[in-house]
Amino acid sequence: MTTFVPPQQRATWQSLQASANQPMAHLRELLKEPQRAERFQLSAGHLHLDFSRQRIDTHIWSQLQALATESDVLGQAHAMARGDAINATEARAVLHMALRGANQPTPPWGQAISAQVTDVLKRMLAFADTFYNGTAKGHTGEAMTDVVTLGIGGSDLGPRMAAQALAANASPHVRVHFVSNPDAWALHSTLRGLNPATTLVVVSSKTFTTQETLTLANSARRWLLDGGVPERALGAHVAAVSAAVDKATAFGVLPENIFGFWDWVGGRYSVWSAIGLPLAMGIGSQAFREFLAGAETMDQHFLSAPVDQNMPLALALLGVWNRNFLNCPTHLISPYAWRLEKFASFIQQMDMESNGKSTRVDGEPVDTATGPIVWGGLGIDGQHAYFQLIHQGQHTVPVDFIGVTQEDTPSHGLPMAAEHHRVVLLNLNAQAHALACGRDAHDTAESLRAGGMSEADVARLTPHRQFRGNVPSNVIWMDALTPYNLGSLIALYEHKVFCQAAIWGIHAFDQWGVELGKTMAKAMESGA
Ligand code: F6P
Repeated sequence: MTTFVPPQQRATWQSLQASANQPMAHLRELLKEPQRAERFQLSAGHLHLDFSRQRIDTHIWSQLQALATESDVLGQAHAMARGDAINATEARAVLHMALRGANQPTPPWGQAISAQVTDVLKRMLAFADTFYNGTAKGHTGEAMTDVVTLGIGGSDLGPRMAAQALAANASPHVRVHFVSNPDAWALHSTLRGLNPATTLVVVSSKTFTTQETLTLANSARRWLLDGGVPERALGAHVAAVSAAVDKATAFGVLPENIFGFWDWVGGRYSVWSAIGLPLAMGIGSQAFREFLAGAETMDQHFLSAPVDQNMPLALALLGVWNRNFLNCPTHLISPYAWRLEKFASFIQQMDMESNGKSTRVDGEPVDTATGPIVWGGLGIDGQHAYFQLIHQGQHTVPVDFIGVTQEDTPSHGLPMAAEHHRVVLLNLNAQAHALACGRDAHDTAESLRAGGMSEADVARLTPHRQFRGNVPSNVIWMDALTPYNLGSLIALYEHKVFCQAAIWGIHAFDQWGVELGKTMAKAMESGA
């Protein structure tokens, strides 16, 4: 057992702190450096990372890589892959990589795990395809038309996000709905207009004890019965996904409609497991396998690329530089593709429920900042909502822009789709540039003067209309929003989160912070 070294005691951490204490040129100057764009780029799979607008130079970049090496981040990654119980407070392995790597001839986690994964995946995809292809039937013999998924957190956010992201792959035979909130209106607004005779309810819950989800499940079951589904035929209208198969069985779900997964799958890392059943129903087994393959490609890259070529590690190190050395308290996820509308919420749980910790792996309080506040949403909508603060407010907010280079809207759908795409990408590029370069007082005054403004007004308004810039950002490009590329993108962020936890010396895969609220709710319920 190696002795834990707090990050700030590492020589590389201290040299980074020394670098951070030195003045650095403004990004508008750094971006003039020849070869900068080429120097600060990485590719993996079909993803491309442009980090030239980060507030680093080659010296800092090499120091960050040295920190990764001294922290043995990639060594810890291999420990995860071979199934070490790195989720130490729950004494569990962390093997979401096994969910998408089951075809590997000699997987680091072993053939037994792969065999379990393969068995459930085969059964789940066969079931999913009956809905995707429109052949699944309800108790009346009519084809099933709707799938209503009940789940919350990691049992909801991944499949919900991916179903929208992969709208281009959506089945014409079935509509997939997601309900997470126990407020009656959430379920009512989904169920109204649906036909119980052609609706499947999927209860997704790793523990099958989450009160919100069970409230929804009991209410949806009542809706089916009141809607004419006979008790004896209920089994054709309810499925369950859980690591607690016994509890799903006790709820009354037929064994053939229960799809299990394992305690070594964290909820926020479970979209690849049977939790992805509703996604597979919507996009079909082939697309789901492509989704898995894209993630596996990123896994292979993560486990094999050297420190200076490793995309997840680069994202992690840049995040550590911004969080711990530039003291940025938040991190903005800003996709510029409508289909990625829910991506920020998905990453928010993944990152904040993993790294929102303040106790080190050795049980001592952390001495450094850990997980940032991760927030975001569609970039262009954000430009008309919170970008004012990012441009002229008091916080420096590092941004991950995510862009899709190809336009693939069905041409019969919208003849001007290419113009839409041009506007979207123009805004992404303009915002990244504006945040990096800003516009100083001199250039602002020149701009106002050139617009014919009087000198008095120029003097009066310049302080209000200048932009400090120097806001760091990454741009993650993908060629097309395909199942494969989405899989790679999600895995990229999963491994980024892992790397940051490894550097900070915190546990990423437990979530004790969610327990107190649940405990208090139960105590209040019992009148204690
Ligand atoms: O938010 C707490 C949490 O346990 C998440 O980690 C999890 O994804 C969610 O609740 C739902 O849990 P379950 O899938 O067990 O219903």
